[in-house]
Amino acid sequence: MKIRSGMNENPLVRLPKEFSSGDNSPMSINVTNIIVEARQKALEDTKNIPIPPVVEKVDWPVSCTVGPGLEGAISAETKVGYVNGQKGWLVYRGYNIFDLCAHSNFEEVSFLLLHGRLPNAVELKDFQATLRSDLKINQSLRLLMSFDAEHLSPMAALRLGINLMRQRQTFRDKEGVVVVSGSIASDEDSIPMETLPKGEKEAIYSFQGQTYTRPASPGENLAASTEMDSCYRLIAGVASITAAIIRLRAGKMPLEPLEHLSHAGNLLYLMTGKEPSALETRIMDVSLILHADHGMNASTFASMVVASTLSDIYFSIGSGVAALSGPLHGGANEEVIKMLQEIGEPENVTSWYKKARAEKRKIPGFGHRVYKAYDPRARILGPLAEAVTVGNPEMERIMATAKALEALVVVELGGEKKIFPNVDFYSGIVYKAMGLPAEVFTPLFAVSRVSGWTARVMEYLERNRIFRPRAIYTGEFYEEFPSLESRG
Ligand code: ACO
Repeated sequence: MKIRSGMNENPLVRLPKEFSSGDNSPMSINVTNIIVEARQKALEDTKNIPIPPVVEKVDWPVSCTVGPGLEGAISAETKVGYVNGQKGWLVYRGYNIFDLCAHSNFEEVSFLLLHGRLPNAVELKDFQATLRSDLKINQSLRLLMSFDAEHLSPMAALRLGINLMRQRQTFRDKEGVVVVSGSIASDEDSIPMETLPKGEKEAIYSFQGQTYTRPASPGENLAASTEMDSCYRLIAGVASITAAIIRLRAGKMPLEPLEHLSHAGNLLYLMTGKEPSALETRIMDVSLILHADHGMNASTFASMVVASTLSDIYFSIGSGVAALSGPLHGGANEEVIKMLQEIGEPENVTSWYKKARAEKRKIPGFGHRVYKAYDPRARILGPLAEAVTVGNPEMERIMATAKALEALVVVELGGEKKIFPNVDFYSGIVYKAMGLPAEVFTPLFAVSRVSGWTARVMEYLERNRIFRPRAIYTGEFYEEFPSLESRG
C-alpha cells in the first residue's frame, strides 16, 4: 500500500449567489447559509485533528487488522467516495459534502458518482430529462399494485417493486425488444389478449405477445443489465416506487411526473400530489445529496456482494434495499422519531436516558462504525431541522427534545466512546416537518443511496472478483451421529 500523508484542507466554501426560495412559504430559510455555517463549525471543531494519511495504491494481497463485523477490513479500491471518521470528512469523487450541498443538486451528484466527473450543461440537461422520463414506470407500478403493496412494509414493497422493474427490464435492455407481457398485471390495459388456456394441469395461461428468452450465460445477463441505462432507471425507479407506495398507503393512485420539476421536486410531487415550493425542493435536494454515498456501509456492501456473483443490478440494488431496512442502518431514522415521541418533552430526557441505558438500549441516531467525530451530515441536518421546525408547536417540541437528548448523549458518551449524532438523528425531523409520514423515511434513504450503490457496483465490476470472506469455525468436529430415537 502506498500511503500519502497530508492532504490539503479543502478551501472554504465559495458562496454561491444568495439562495432565494422564491415562494411564500412560511419557512423563509437560507439553506446555503446553514450549510456554509455548518462547514465553518466543522473546520473549527476538527482543526486540531491531524489530516489523515491517504492510501494511494493497494498492492493485493493487503494486510490489515479485522474486527468482528469486518471492522477494519479492506474489501476494494474505489474512487467513488471517501469517509474519514476522525476528521469527520465525507468526500464524493474529490468534492467535500459541504460544497456539494451548497452548490449542487441530486442529479448532478448522481452523475458525478456514476461517471467520476461533473456533467457539463448539456449532459446535465440530458441526464435530468432521462431521469424524468424514467420516473414513468407505469407497468411496474401496475404490477406492484396487484400485490396489495399498501399492506406490505414500505421497504418490502420497495424491494418487490425493484424486482418487478427487473422483470420488465432485465434481458431486454440489450436487444431493445419490446415485450408485451411475460406476466399477469393488475388491470385490463396491461394484460394482453388471452389465448388458449393450457388447463388445470399446468395451471398457466399463455398470452399473445413476444416473449424473451433468458440469456444463456450469466455474462450475457450481466452485460444486459449493468449498463448505465439500468442504473439511471433504478435511480428514477426507486423514487417512483417509493412515491407510489406512499400514495397507495394513503388510498391514492400513483401520479405521473411533471416535466418542469427536478428529481427532488418530482419526488415530493409524486408523494404529496402538490407541487413543492423551491425551498422544499432545495431541502429535499440537500437531503438526497447527503445520503447518496457513504463508503462500504452495510447496504452498499450487500449490493456489491450480490453484483460480484455476476447476478444483475436489479437483484443487487434489491439487496441494498433489504440491508438498508434494518434499524441499525437506514431504519434508524424512523426509530428516532418514535423515540422522540416516546420521550415526549425535553424535561423527560434524563429519566428516559437513564432507563434506556439501564436496559442497555442503543440510542437510535447515535454512534457510527466509522465516525468517531461529529457526522458531517448531522452537522447540516441538525441546523436545517431546527430551521424547518420553527413555528410548528409539535415539531418545536420534538426538536427541543432532540437537542436535549443530543446534549446529554454527547456529555455521557461523546468523550470516551466517541458517540455523536449520525445522519439518521435529524433527517426524520426534517422530513416530518415537511409533512412526510415516518413510514417513508427509510425508503427516502434508498431513493438517494441508489446512486452510491449503482456507482460502486459499476466501478467494482470493472475489476470484479467474487466476494468470499471466511468464518472461524468454533464448533465440534467428531460428533457421533445419533439415531432419531436416541435424541429424546
Ligand atoms: N447508543 C448507546 N451506546 C452505543 C450506541 C448508541 N447508539 N452506539 C454504540 N454504542 C456503544 C456500544 O454499546 C459499545 O459500547 P461498549 O464498548 O461498552 O460495548 C460501543 O459504543 C461500540 O458500539 P458498537 O455497537 O460495537 O459499534 P458498531 O460499530 O458495531 O455499531 C452502529 C455502529 C450500528 C451504528 C451503532 O452505533 C448503533 O447501533 N447505533 C444506533 C442505530 C443507528 O443510529 N444506526 C444508524 C447508523 S448510520 C447509518 O447506518 C445510516
